[in-house]
Amino acid sequence: MARRPLVAGNWKMNGDRAGVDRLVRGILAGLAQGGGVEVMVCPSYVHIPQVAELTRGTPLAVGAQDLSEYDSGAYTGEVSGAMLAEFGCGSVIVGHSERRHLFGESDDRVAEKFAAALRHGLTPVLCVGETLEERRAGSTEQVIARQLDAVIGHVGVPALAGAVIAYEPVWAIGTGQTATPDQAQAVHAFIRERIGGRDPGLAGEVRILYGGSVKPDNAGSLFGMADIDGGLIGGASLDADAFLAIVRSAGQE
Ligand code: PGA
Repeated sequence: MARRPLVAGNWKMNGDRAGVDRLVRGILAGLAQGGGVEVMVCPSYVHIPQVAELTRGTPLAVGAQDLSEYDSGAYTGEVSGAMLAEFGCGSVIVGHSERRHLFGESDDRVAEKFAAALRHGLTPVLCVGETLEERRAGSTEQVIARQLDAVIGHVGVPALAGAVIAYEPVWAIGTGQTATPDQAQAVHAFIRERIGGRDPGLAGEVRILYGGSVKPDNAGSLFGMADIDGGLIGGASLDADAFLAIVRSAGQE
């Protein structure tokens, strides 16, 4: 069964009310050209209600960038999966490398967040990826396997059916230095094989996105690879025209 491409914008900590309004309207104006691609944007928590309102009844989906592993209670500053679902999110990014490396999220904590997303009916977009040092040391596959296995160990392989995986090499995020299509494909194939070792059917169905300096001029060659099913886009998702061009590239593959 063909996997439907997904292009998701990760806005990170960017935007204000007026800019969010312009960006969403800009994306919606060009989205009809996107074809069979699923398209999503992930604004900051505070902009989620605004984006949910602007996108109601449109093909543009809304996701969050993170969530709490807890469901409710005395956890100052946290936002639960239930809150995200109530405010219109269908998906949530889990384990982004900025969360792992800047905010100290461990593999175990990421796994708990993944489980929390599923508990609240949200599609987790699980990010995995190695640092430059890890790649140079030849431990890319070992790192990806560890990050993936932490989640599988916690929720079980069947739970991946409700998820999306994003391979984001840390050295390619926000650096302008993208993985080559072959480098990315090799890791995507590894991820699929790792899942296939436990459930071959599921491995063929789960979508694996590439993220890390995806731009309109490199998106086509990345999305053309056999195991790359779309992208998680940071910087280029803040510009409606660039984001739409990337969406169109995904539709051509
Ligand atoms: P980038 O970010 O496209 O700006 O490299 C990707 C991401 O962090 O998801």
